[in-house]
Amino acid sequence: MGISWDEFYKEEAPVKKEEKIAEPRVAEVSEEVKQAVEAPVQTESTQNVPTEDVTSEVMQNIENYTTKKDPSEDDLQKVREKMDEVLQGRVQVGQKAMINSKADLNQLVPFKYKWAWEKYLDGTANHWMPQEINMTADIALWKAADGLTEDERMIVKRSLGFFSTADSLVANNVVLAIYKHITNPECRQYLLRQAFEEAIHTHAYQYCIESLSMDEGEIFNMYREVPCVEAKAAWALKYTKELEDSSFETGTPENDKTFLANLIAFYCVLEGMFFYCGFSQILSMGRRNKMTGVSEQFQYIMRDESMHVNFGIDMINSIINENPHIWDEEMQKRASDMIVEGTELEVNYAKDTMPRGVLGMNAKMMEEYLQYVCNRRLAQINLPEAYPGAKYPPSMQWMSEIMDLRKEKNFFETRVIEYQVGGSLQFDD
Ligand SMILES: [Fe+2]
Ligand SMILES: [Fe+2]
Repeated sequence: MGISWDEFYKEEAPVKKEEKIAEPRVAEVSEEVKQAVEAPVQTESTQNVPTEDVTSEVMQNIENYTTKKDPSEDDLQKVREKMDEVLQGRVQVGQKAMINSKADLNQLVPFKYKWAWEKYLDGTANHWMPQEINMTADIALWKAADGLTEDERMIVKRSLGFFSTADSLVANNVVLAIYKHITNPECRQYLLRQAFEEAIHTHAYQYCIESLSMDEGEIFNMYREVPCVEAKAAWALKYTKELEDSSFETGTPENDKTFLANLIAFYCVLEGMFFYCGFSQILSMGRRNKMTGVSEQFQYIMRDESMHVNFGIDMINSIINENPHIWDEEMQKRASDMIVEGTELEVNYAKDTMPRGVLGMNAKMMEEYLQYVCNRRLAQINLPEAYPGAKYPPSMQWMSEIMDLRKEKNFFETRVIEYQVGGSLQFDD
């Protein structure tokens, strides 16, 4: 016998008679008091918490006041004084800071870094899921004996091998190393969104690997077993390890520099450099109508990543602006060396994955492109170019509509980023 939903509902959740709710009393309120009443109510604060009594007294005061049709200047003054008293315990924008702030982290507003909140909103507008992408053509091509060349097959495997672990490294670093030390709620809100996106990315790689019936052990162990993949993962991991010690705290110039180095390693190098060769290779494949499902997954990921990089660079520059003493000559050299080191590792990866020309690209062309990316990353944190004159290679202009660095925007620049909301991503040529 099936369940009768109506009966089940009656038994489990008897319908209550609608209760008549008294109409709220409407008093005439001046704009000034309206604003005071509508101001966000403080729930908790780590400093100068007003006592409940004071708050309720003030609220009573306002309530009494709002019933008056023609408040006197004295009435207004009383409310102003009481509201000032309450506001003293509330988080003020001036108390907020990227690191080492003592302001209440549970209170999102008032915003100090509006760009962080806007990036959070843009991130949520770009939501996508790996299962939405059709992998049928990829599965057929991957299985076909003459579908892809050996070089192309290696590129697909290496890309999935590197990225399937790299996004976990990034997610772990966000959650275990960065989040704790960023003392700003709107940036934390974005970090939570980023962490979720990294989970989606790892999911996407797993989805590709599973769809293509690849040897999971081989792919997921590349970061241990394939030297050019291992070198990049190991380079990044050491920066997470530095912060892994649970007693690590920011607050000293030395530790603040260590933390800043972690951000530079992950945003400028891992996400801002280590992803670029693999992304170009897979996108080039899609452009040739090969592995179009994998390529589409990578395009969605690339869109997210470009936002992660811009967010990270804005965070780095904010920390530097607020703590200029840690951005000394030694730290600037350290940052520059890190980004150049990362570029060299990525060039090695390009040489290893492209021993010959493939997909209209070769290692030399990629090296030139990566040097351009390197200069761009250095410039974004106000450091001099490491490869003066490196240009966006004309032979890779096709990427300009997909992963164009010249279109990357961040808060410290004036241009506006063009986000795509929903819909499918299309190649322009
Ligand atoms: Fe990612
Ligand atoms: Fe990312």
